[in-house]
Amino acid sequence: MLTRRFFIGGMAAALAAGPRKLFAKEESEFDDNLLVFLSDVHAGAAKTCKCARKKLKEAVAEILKMRPLPRNVLVFGDVAHVCGLGVDYDASRPHFKLLEDAGITVTVGMGNHDRRSEFAVRWPDAPKKSLVPGRFVHLVEMSGVGFLMLDSLQGTDDRAQDDYGPVPGALSDDQQTFLRDFLAKRTKPVILCAHHAPGEMKVCGKPLSLVLVTTPCIAGYIHGHNHRWMRSWLRNKDQKTPERAKRVLCLPSNGLWGDIGYATCRVLPGGSRSCATDNPSSGKVVVVPNLKDFWLSRPVSTERRPPEWDDILAEGRASGPCVFRL
Ligand SMILES: [Fe+2]
Repeated sequence: MLTRRFFIGGMAAALAAGPRKLFAKEESEFDDNLLVFLSDVHAGAAKTCKCARKKLKEAVAEILKMRPLPRNVLVFGDVAHVCGLGVDYDASRPHFKLLEDAGITVTVGMGNHDRRSEFAVRWPDAPKKSLVPGRFVHLVEMSGVGFLMLDSLQGTDDRAQDDYGPVPGALSDDQQTFLRDFLAKRTKPVILCAHHAPGEMKVCGKPLSLVLVTTPCIAGYIHGHNHRWMRSWLRNKDQKTPERAKRVLCLPSNGLWGDIGYATCRVLPGGSRSCATDNPSSGKVVVVPNLKDFWLSRPVSTERRPPEWDDILAEGRASGPCVFRL
């Protein structure tokens, strides 16, 4: 029986350990193979971000109600509204902190609307844990696969407060060298993650798309930026190696425009794969969309809602999961 003294003692110990311990869930409530993907959150401080803030609050509440809980949440960039302002990160940080306080690890990638210096003030662990100095590159290692979150933001921290910065993505020279060396040593499947689509980027003189299809350990690529739930394939046209295709997935926006929602991801490890032979194991990564809505520019009342928005939403929901072979 739970005595009053035992209860008070437990509470005192939790309070002494800080808020994270107080709200953290039991280990048995987590599934290490379950993740949630959020992208293009855009939950800034401006009045125009009211809907995006509401959608972030709703997504966090839903994640915290999941049983089992995901061990990781990955955010694919554009956390800020449009210019990476400090007040934007102030507006969204408390929502993400609720996830962290529950014991969920939140890993954030940088989008073209972000600004590293302002982000780092609110997320001080990001630069400390980054694999590439000056950029935010993080590896989320799981059983059977890793998710490598790259930093494709080109905009510099010294740009003017009202400067949106360059829209296309690019990997810094240091990051390209890191990625080349990382892939050369990698013996376990990895899914590359970034805000931008792979076609926009290069790795040490080679198009990233070519690296994707010719590197056996890469199981696929996941990105945001286009605000749509879109599955596609990249084909290997290099005749010297088997003609393989690699899965590419674009995620919805959590709350600004386009497909609105997030995705859940389950890792199904199976067998052991030798990256050297390029023969997939029976392991899979299955990503399921959780689409809430679709709108262009901004949501409108039911009377003014174009009927094709419902068709687009229905198509997205009917498209089914996106499967990556490991
Ligand atoms: Fe975006």
